[in-house]
Amino acid sequence: MAQPAQSPEPPADHVIVLFGATGDLARRKLLPGLFHLARAGLMPSRYRIVGTAPATEALTDEQFRTHARQAVAEFGCSPPEGPAWEAFAAGLSFGAADTGAADPLIAAVGEAETALGGRPRRLFHLAVPPVAFTSMIELLGATGLAGDGRVIVEKPFGTDLASARQLNAAIHAVFDESRVFRIDHFLGKESVDNVLALRFANGFFEPLWNRDHITHVQIDVPEHIDIQGRARFFEGTGTFRDMVVTHLFQLLGFIAMEPPVALEAGSLRDEQVKVFHSMRALDPAHVVRGQYTGYREEQGVDPASDTETFVALRVEIDNWRWAGVPFHLRTGKALAEGRHVVTLGLREPALRMFPLDARAAADGRSNELVIDFDDPGSVSARFLVKEPGPSMRLAEGDMVFNYRTSFAAQNFLEGYEHLLLEAMRGNQSLFTRSDGVERLWEVAAPLLDAPPPVRPYAPGSWGPDAVDALVAPYRWHLPDGGPAPS
Ligand code: BG6
Repeated sequence: MAQPAQSPEPPADHVIVLFGATGDLARRKLLPGLFHLARAGLMPSRYRIVGTAPATEALTDEQFRTHARQAVAEFGCSPPEGPAWEAFAAGLSFGAADTGAADPLIAAVGEAETALGGRPRRLFHLAVPPVAFTSMIELLGATGLAGDGRVIVEKPFGTDLASARQLNAAIHAVFDESRVFRIDHFLGKESVDNVLALRFANGFFEPLWNRDHITHVQIDVPEHIDIQGRARFFEGTGTFRDMVVTHLFQLLGFIAMEPPVALEAGSLRDEQVKVFHSMRALDPAHVVRGQYTGYREEQGVDPASDTETFVALRVEIDNWRWAGVPFHLRTGKALAEGRHVVTLGLREPALRMFPLDARAAADGRSNELVIDFDDPGSVSARFLVKEPGPSMRLAEGDMVFNYRTSFAAQNFLEGYEHLLLEAMRGNQSLFTRSDGVERLWEVAAPLLDAPPPVRPYAPGSWGPDAVDALVAPYRWHLPDGGPAPS
């Protein structure tokens, strides 16, 4: 087993201001994530966390600590107890804020800074619904709280090109781009960094990573869960905006990018945005939209709803590396499994030396490189090998690298944790830049303007039947008999 990684320098001292501190994201991810970072010794040596919410949801400091304790107990990876918890809880406070009435927050931030001394950095995390983004940014500007602090913005980054531009303009009126961290938790997954390592730290993957050797790429993120009662959010959003224009396109940027000049934010983000510029605008004829049977009966869903709970589509990239190589993306709710899988299909050898019946035992999934993005993930190469025995028969073999069995578990960070840490370090490598966001909405425009009708699919299936024709003459890598539904 590999040795534990050396601990990097902790970030500078911070006051973290959590907008939406009483909301779902803070409860499920942010508070447990910050506590995990603290336990792992990755928080700044001195920090405070100030929760905030509208006055109607105001908490006292003590109530906020109780709220955080419950969140960590329910969703954290270690229980909220012992000296680590006591120290973490002591750094929590609360100050309500509404437009034009932010005094409690201003006071709480002031107290936190005084308690720390020196000049701690301010980091604002806007874990609020999209309707509240702009007013919270304006509040930070108007009160002067923004100062030279940094801001983490949650998706969706707009709902189309016009709204994305408006949002970016509102943000840039208060924070210059170097202080903006648009968070997409998929980019915090270990396997994204590992794609960079695989490609650029080794001699054997990168030479194959192009149209000469790869016939097609799949980014497949089926979800087993349904909308889980989030009808209000989902009806107005749908799977394309919720998952594709965000998570799946971001992953695509990392899979398809050219080698960056250096492993630092400027170069990485330049290469990612270049991929987005090379993407052809989506062709609705190559998009399958689906809706699971029963969705329209969910509470809060319009009985005639046209919102998609599933999308599969073809993306084409017009550049020298990928011209003619289709990228097929699929994601949806209530599908057979919950997985995060990227598959690169390699060309057949130039000459077919082995008769077809010699390959009888193989199910057609050889010649693939499969990257599983489940936290913490795995990479496998699938190829044909000779079956032992007197005749020349081929079977499939796997070479598998598995994070969980190769490294010590204490080093794993969840997507959000990794990104919170990078934001405190001021490293924007894994955060989306405004021009990238706007370009993706441009790519999406033909689909948003003329979406094909939704097709029904059975919960527990792999989506509407039309998904097979979409990838022909290839086939979806999944199902592969992998982990049980999550
Ligand atoms: C969120 C979406 O951003 O990502 C959810 O809003 C989705 O609808 C979730 O379920 C998936 O994230 P993960 O990491 O569980 O695959």
